Amino acid sequence: ATDRALAGLKVVVSAGPTYEDLDPVRYLGNRSSGKMGFAVAASAARRGAEVVLVSGPVNLPTPAGVKRVDVRSAAQMREAVFAAFPADIYIGAAAVADYTPRLPAANKIKKSSESLALDLVRTPDILAEVAARTQELKLVIGFAAETERVAEYARGKLVAKRLDMIIANRVGVADGGFESDSNAMTAFWKDGERAFASAPKTQLADELVDLIVERLHA
Ligand code: PMT
Repeated sequence: ATDRALAGLKVVVSAGPTYEDLDPVRYLGNRSSGKMGFAVAASAARRGAEVVLVSGPVNLPTPAGVKRVDVRSAAQMREAVFAAFPADIYIGAAAVADYTPRLPAANKIKKSSESLALDLVRTPDILAEVAARTQELKLVIGFAAETERVAEYARGKLVAKRLDMIIANRVGVADGGFESDSNAMTAFWKDGERAFASAPKTQLADELVDLIVERLHA
């Protein structure tokens, strides 16, 4: 669609991985390329929204008409997301680290013993916090990246994090999920669902924004 159905609305999108530093040279990251979140941000901007895109470390150009904020860690992503509020819609497409080193080493960790245990602590769940804290939001949408029992785990996150919608996709497969240019996914909300057949992420983003426009008026 080319209409400006999101005109007057502010949309905050998170995209990409987060990097959790272990020491000055190493980090814990993941395979997210940012392509999905960037496509969603671009699509929302084309539909007339004011878009803030909070991005982890990725190699992608900033979509037209989008304000981009670059971050590295989950903690920084959380800061940047809340700094972008108030907003009308939050779309969490980022693959945020669930754990981060309790204390990053100030200097390079030296190779010594045969094994090395990392002491990791939970990161704040940005999506759950957004859903719980910001009454002014019209829609809070999460993604669920799963390797198995995709629909079941996604529905669980919809309820547990009190989201308006969750977009489930399978990761760890050759074609789709992380890194790939295309994907297949299913949106779940309280009393409905919609499957999106495998397609380029740019096209899926347009179809997802169509659904968001529908749900806004539902
Ligand atoms: O970036 P691409 O290469 O294009 O790949 C796209 C994608 C697979 C990364 C994307 O489609 C996707 O599924 N994003 C969510 C990845 C993820 O971390 O899912 P999750 O099931 O672990 O997390 C569920 C939701 O909670 C997500 O909306 C996530 O942003 C959010 N979350 C998770 C942990 C945390 N500490 N804070 C969060 O906000």
